[in-house]
Amino acid sequence: QEAPLVDPFERAITYLRVSVTDRCDFRCVYCMSEDMTFLPKSEVLSLEELDRLCTNFVDLGVRKLRLTGGEPLVRRNIMWLIERLSRHLDSGRLDELTLTTNASQLTRYADQLAACGVKRLNVSMDTLNPDKFKAITRWGKYDKVMEGLQAAKRAGISVKINTVALKNVNDDEIDNLVSWCGDEGFDLTFIEVMPMGDIGGEDRLDQYYPLSQLRADLAKNWTLEESDHKTGGPARYAYCRETGGRIGFITPLTHNFCESCNRVRLTCTGTLYMCLGQEDAADLRQPLRESEDDTLVKDAIREAISRKPKGHDFIIDRDRTQGVASRHMSVTGG
Ligand code: GTP
Ligand code: 5AD
Ligand code: SF4
Repeated sequence: QEAPLVDPFERAITYLRVSVTDRCDFRCVYCMSEDMTFLPKSEVLSLEELDRLCTNFVDLGVRKLRLTGGEPLVRRNIMWLIERLSRHLDSGRLDELTLTTNASQLTRYADQLAACGVKRLNVSMDTLNPDKFKAITRWGKYDKVMEGLQAAKRAGISVKINTVALKNVNDDEIDNLVSWCGDEGFDLTFIEVMPMGDIGGEDRLDQYYPLSQLRADLAKNWTLEESDHKTGGPARYAYCRETGGRIGFITPLTHNFCESCNRVRLTCTGTLYMCLGQEDAADLRQPLRESEDDTLVKDAIREAISRKPKGHDFIIDRDRTQGVASRHMSVTGG
């Protein structure tokens, strides 16, 4: 048995987020620019290589795997990888195998995902208004997403809706979202917009809707009770008495949660980012390809974890907005 991964701040790393493709069938405004150039296929790890890397992380004590993108379900043959990875659920080495998706492909994949042991999906959905949906996602198809959500439900998969809180965009819909999620039996998580990619700082300040404010706005119409529900991610949850649903808050700006960080992010080229809000990264593709023996890969992973930074330093402020300009959110899928 290998020694588990522990970083310099004594945080155990048990959660790996894997971006399986940088491509997406949407172009959400806070995630991508409209004219994205995607990686050439030759740069991207094969599904076999992704499986091998993930398995190395499982060997080193990772208990939760989340596939992201871009949009994970637009990667060709993605079910092959998910089925392969599900063997770690069967052997009890993994607690959870899950995805963050835009739901556009769920009509096709929900049953197969359920059969692979996927019990929960996080689905990005910022609005229930089809016109706004078009404005935010640019290429997204509202009806297809709604169908996909119903398919997940029929397959018996729990859904958590991720809503990025955007002032003057969806701040008038938060009550609607709460009642819709209550009716559908979905959990709901609100997220503070993070300054990533080359999107102007001015826009970010205009759109910034602190969740401290959102929560106060919700409290006008709903009774929120503290809940100790945990998903192993950064959200803090409340229980909504009227709907019986859970509402989560992800607050990188108003309430930093880095102290309890348990995760790292792998991109589809085999680059490991130790923090969403920092540039520092490690290349795992080279050691992966250099030898069939996994010793080099495991050494590279340990070395990377030994320099995991304390946290992000995102700022959204009148005086200054600071983020990670060099990288779009779609590189790591959040
Ligand atoms: P659960 O397993 O349901 O808890 O999911 P999760 O919150 O870990 O994953 P999801 O993909 O739904 O991410 C929701 C949001 O949380 C995204 O916008 C992520 O960027 C953000 N997020 C997740 N982990 C971190 C983190 O370590 N730092 C920051 N700043 N944001 C994070
Ligand atoms: N800030 C906050 N959340 C974001 N997401 C994408 N871009 C951003 C951003 N700039 C969210 C998506 C998705 C999750 C993985 O990340 O809504 O649900
Ligand atoms: Fe695609 Fe998700 Fe990024 Fe939207 S947030 S462009 S759905 S990867």
